Amino acid sequence: MGTLSTTLSKLLSKFRRPVAAAEPALSKPAEVAHWNEIDRRTRLGERIFWLNHPRIFNHYTRKSLVDGLTWYEWVARQLGGPAEIALELGCGSGAVLDKFLRGGIIKTGVGIDLDASRFTNDDRRLSFRAGDVNHAKLEPNRYDLIYAVQSFHHFEELDAIMEQVRNALTDRGFFVMNEFVGPRRFQWTDGQLAVIAQLLGLMPKHLRMYASGVEKREEGRSTPEEVMRVSESEAVRSDEIVPAFYRHFNVVHHRKLGGTIQHLLYSGIVHNFPDDDPEIDHMIDCIDGIETTLIDGGVLESDFAILIGTKHKPAGA
Ligand SMILES: C[S@@+](CC[C@H](N)C(=O)[O-])C[C@H]1O[C@@H](n2cnc3c(N)ncnc32)[C@H](O)[C@@H]1O
Repeated sequence: MGTLSTTLSKLLSKFRRPVAAAEPALSKPAEVAHWNEIDRRTRLGERIFWLNHPRIFNHYTRKSLVDGLTWYEWVARQLGGPAEIALELGCGSGAVLDKFLRGGIIKTGVGIDLDASRFTNDDRRLSFRAGDVNHAKLEPNRYDLIYAVQSFHHFEELDAIMEQVRNALTDRGFFVMNEFVGPRRFQWTDGQLAVIAQLLGLMPKHLRMYASGVEKREEGRSTPEEVMRVSESEAVRSDEIVPAFYRHFNVVHHRKLGGTIQHLLYSGIVHNFPDDDPEIDHMIDCIDGIETTLIDGGVLESDFAILIGTKHKPAGA
């Protein structure tokens, strides 16, 4: 009987879905509704953000490559195969976890986001935890990969979260952040707004039209209160993310991904830019080049970055 129950429990453990430690219950209905609405529009094929355009996205991805590989291929290579368990902070619909599962980057995955309505994936190798990442308690020494894609700038408790993440990584594990790290509460600098206005002035009018029929001549700077009205947690401490990352992790990769101009320039008008049009492609390439030159020359900061860290320095380092 003892042997049978041991065999059964061993068998069952193979099928058990990975579970993260429980988070305190929370309620942020406006925030959840905001993100669900964006996901709904994206599913319908609407282009909302600059990175929804494939050519702009390709420039962004190219800058984030590590040894010529996407960051997740690089992590899998470092691990010598797929991560046993990965954790995504602010996972949204679970699309990224799903991509990693299908691409052989992870064997199983856990996603945390604010509400169960955010997660739309039912693959049994993926599990979801509703909770506030700010107060998440993560099981120590559990994950080969923990990552955040455009979500960490919504978190306020930077040090507490990074401490949890560091503890929750396996000794061989990686923490990756592909993030907005620019001005908090989107308080854009005069410099970036000036360059954007100049570039808009050079652009043909039909490319600058908002869906409402109004012509875009410049990008404005909303007040922090206006920004919070759209998303309460928007860029809450985004400007502190990079130094916090360096405090908590051994940084093995850090690249500036730009976005300082492009993120705002294309805001509200990216739907006007068709794919595979040689003239448009040329314009997108030039704008990316101008942005890179201004960032590399120290005229502008980079508002987006990729950071990869480990909990320990490699032996001999
Ligand atoms: C820009 S979306 C990114 C979603 C996903 N990472 C992706 O790339 O598709 C930001 C996500 O962070 C989530 N989020 C914001 N604040 C959060 C918090 N305190 N705890 C957990 N998730 C949060 C939002 O619900 C949303 O799904």
